[in-house]
Amino acid sequence: MVIAIDGYSSSGKSTLAKDLAKALGFIYVDTGAMYRAITYYFIKDSLNFEDNHILREHLPKIELTFRNEGGDNKIFLNGEDVSVIIRTLEVSSKVSEVAALPSVRKKLVAIQQSMASQNLVMDGRDIGTVVFPAAEVKFFVNADVNERSKRRHLELTKKGDNVSLDEILSNLIHRDLIDTTRATSPLKQAEDAIAIDTTHLSRKAQLEFALDVVKNKLA
Ligand code: DC
Repeated sequence: MVIAIDGYSSSGKSTLAKDLAKALGFIYVDTGAMYRAITYYFIKDSLNFEDNHILREHLPKIELTFRNEGGDNKIFLNGEDVSVIIRTLEVSSKVSEVAALPSVRKKLVAIQQSMASQNLVMDGRDIGTVVFPAAEVKFFVNADVNERSKRRHLELTKKGDNVSLDEILSNLIHRDLIDTTRATSPLKQAEDAIAIDTTHLSRKAQLEFALDVVKNKLA
């Protein structure tokens, strides 16, 4: 069974996806982390990902693996644990551009589809529309952009990242625009997805709502 969760940046979809996977005993896959890891690969060596020759040369050299360590989902880029570094504003400010590249999407969609033999909760932007259009359950998560900025600000400042709320707000607005208007697999709600607005919903209430939907489906 595949549960697809798509939605806007910092809308709470990863938290919901993690909680749902834990409650159901499913594997959680964070596809945003995969796009972030590829972005980190290019920016760490100042490689111009807009140059097709560079993309063609480097994409086959990128290997991504997931491992669960003590309840934490970790992502490894060619063997290096990049789970923390991919969350910086530097990566966030470039990831939408990298995620708009068709060859990057092609590589990652193939990896994501190859995981389907297990029970999955997968979150991203195109899971219910492109990666698993026949997913048994689909959710589409959104929240007010100011609320999303506050949440991301709290997350980053807790980690000691010294960023302003304004920087985060403009980054989110910029990413929303690129994610929803790119030519390849733009972020949009699948026709059969159930919308969840998390602006005023507690984490517990979101999980309960989603679990009810899944249980009805299983019944
Ligand atoms: O969920 P996130 O903020 O970590 O995602 C990072 C970026 O990756 C986001 O700007 C859009 C992109 N993304 C995508 O295009 N497709 C996905 N399936 C997941 C993420």
